[in-house]
Amino acid sequence: MSKGKEEPKKGSRSGPEEKRMQGHWLLAAMGKRVLRPGGMEMTVFLIDEAKPTDEDRIVEFGPGVGKTAELLLRRLPRSYTGVDPNPEGSKALKKVLAGRKNAGTVKANAKETGLEDGCADLVIGEAMLTMHSDEDKAAIIKEAARLLSPGGRYAIHELGLHPEDLDDETKNTIRKDLSRIIKVGARPLTTREWTKLLEDAGLEVKSSWENPMALLEPKRMIDDEGIFGALRFAKNMITNKAGRERVLGMRGVFRKHAEHINAVGIVAVKPAG
Ligand SMILES: C[S@@+](CC[C@H](N)C(=O)[O-])C[C@H]1O[C@@H](n2cnc3c(N)ncnc32)[C@H](O)[C@@H]1O
Repeated sequence: MSKGKEEPKKGSRSGPEEKRMQGHWLLAAMGKRVLRPGGMEMTVFLIDEAKPTDEDRIVEFGPGVGKTAELLLRRLPRSYTGVDPNPEGSKALKKVLAGRKNAGTVKANAKETGLEDGCADLVIGEAMLTMHSDEDKAAIIKEAARLLSPGGRYAIHELGLHPEDLDDETKNTIRKDLSRIIKVGARPLTTREWTKLLEDAGLEVKSSWENPMALLEPKRMIDDEGIFGALRFAKNMITNKAGRERVLGMRGVFRKHAEHINAVGIVAVKPAG
């Protein structure tokens, strides 16, 4: 083995890779499995409200490592399709889908899935719109609306801003600070702004909720990952200096803006006829 010359592998326990990874993949490499701002609590609300049944054809945008897929498959849907262009979560997702004849994945951008019009009764996407420009958010939502059959539901779980009349300067500071630390453009919106994007695509918002953005707080970590998952994460925080520094930087920014960031969950419906 050569000394000090090889580039550390992605997700390895040391080296500079941790300094460059997008925040969600860094957290996944550190052992975190739940990568959405409102935690599993918000996901459970969202799924309960979207009411998946065994008749539903479900499409998930940005399934990541498959935590929501796991919950959705427990409802024994008619089919499940995960759409994600990135390879990082695919191994874990494939494990979740293993042995399910009616479940598969499509490697595509949610803006242009290649799936047929009206092929879904429920589209769900968590923590994936926030990282896109306004134009791309609109394109992804339009694609969700195209995939839905009339009466179908679109459930989103994203990073929010509040209050509704938050001034532009604060919004811009939050977006800049988040984007710098998570190394991906982060453009959270207020609940009203998320609602408007859905309505602009012809969808009717049925319900919405807000939850604290507590992704990296100890209580949420235990709620989301379980005690063993939280311990695995804690162990990686101790042993991986570069990862620890990034995670603490992320938590610092989340805490700095805690008053103005939250998690937003919305279920919208494609009108029948
Ligand atoms: C922050 S992770 C969230 C993963 C998972 N939804 C969760 O909540 O735990 C964002 C996910 O969205 C995916 N993603 C980003 N842009 C996407 C796009 N345009 N189309 C589909 N998936 C996308 C990423 O590859 C990643 O799996």
